[in-house]
Amino acid sequence: PVVYVLNGPNLNLLGTPQPEIYGYETLEDVKRLCTETGQEAGLDIRFHQSNHEGALVELIHEVRTEADGIVINPAAYTHTSVAIRDALVACDFAIMEVHISNVHRREAFRHHSYVSDAATGVIAGLGVEGYAAAVRVFALHKQTEN
Ligand code: DQA
Repeated sequence: PVVYVLNGPNLNLLGTPQPEIYGYETLEDVKRLCTETGQEAGLDIRFHQSNHEGALVELIHEVRTEADGIVINPAAYTHTSVAIRDALVACDFAIMEVHISNVHRREAFRHHSYVSDAATGVIAGLGVEGYAAAVRVFALHKQTEN
């Protein structure tokens, strides 16, 4: 099975800004974590990051027909993007929404997600381990339905 791990804006900087919130691991570390977790589980992990909303929408369109699942941290677009939400709704496999931080104990504008009700599950506040947990869910339930 092929699982795409998609990352939204500013996550390319991970490890430097606000480490008290996001930790010290870099996006390269997250990529390695996802790839290794996927390998152990027999999953083919394809990892992407973009700072552009339209690029993320087009990526979701491209993978619609070949993915078995998506793990997505839409970052700031979580709280703003109907377009990313609509692209995810058009996918008929499971989608795991991941946030490194616990968005619910942060500013009020982070409490609402346009993606959550298009997602199969949501993980927040587990640090980068949340990505590994989300990948593992696809391994446990290779037939996970959305
Ligand atoms: C984030 C939380 C978002 O509110 C924020 O804009 C991010 C990262 C997280 O992983 O905790 O960029 O998605």
